[in-house]
Amino acid sequence: MKAIFLTGFMGAGKTSVGKQLGKRLGLLVVDTDKMIEQKVGKSVNEIFAKEGESAFRKYERELLRTLPLKNIVITTGGGMVIQKENRDWMKKHGIVIYLHCEPEEILRRLASDETRPLLKQPNKQEQIKRLLTERLPYYQEAHFMIHTTNKTIEEIVDDIV
Ligand code: S3P
Repeated sequence: MKAIFLTGFMGAGKTSVGKQLGKRLGLLVVDTDKMIEQKVGKSVNEIFAKEGESAFRKYERELLRTLPLKNIVITTGGGMVIQKENRDWMKKHGIVIYLHCEPEEILRRLASDETRPLLKQPNKQEQIKRLLTERLPYYQEAHFMIHTTNKTIEEIVDDIV
C-alpha cells in the first residue's frame, strides 16, 4: 500500500488521527516534526528560535525525501505543504489526506499551547485565520479532504478508511 500523508493546520488532529489510523490499518506511523527533533537534537521551538524558520523548512524538505513510501502513515507538520516540491512529492508518492478544521476550533484547542512557534500570544486568533487562509489552496491540493471539526478521532479514522 502507498504511503498515507496526513496534512492540515496545527491542531487539526493529524498526530492523534495518524496513530489511530495506523493501528486500524496495521501500518507504521511516523511524524515529521518528531523525526526532525530527533535528528537535529532540538525541539521545533528551539530550531525556530536558534536557526530560524527557513532552517526548519529545509529539514522538512530533506526529511520528506528519506521516508519509506510503502505501508506507512506519515503525519506532517502544518507547514509541510508550503513548499511546492513537498506537495508534489507527497502527491506523487502517496495518498494525501487533508484534515480540515475550522479556525475557531483550532483556537480553542491551541489557546494555551506554547509549542507552536508560529502561534504566539497576543492575536493568536488573527494568526490562525491569516495562516489558514494563506495555506488553504495548498492544503486543498490533497487527494482527499476530511472535515474534522466536530468529529471524534474514531469518526475521522472511519471517514479516512
Ligand atoms: C508548523 C506546524 C507544526 C510544526 C511547526 C510549524 C506550521 O506542526 O511543524 O511548529 O508551520 O504550521 P503541527 O502541525 O504538528 O503543529
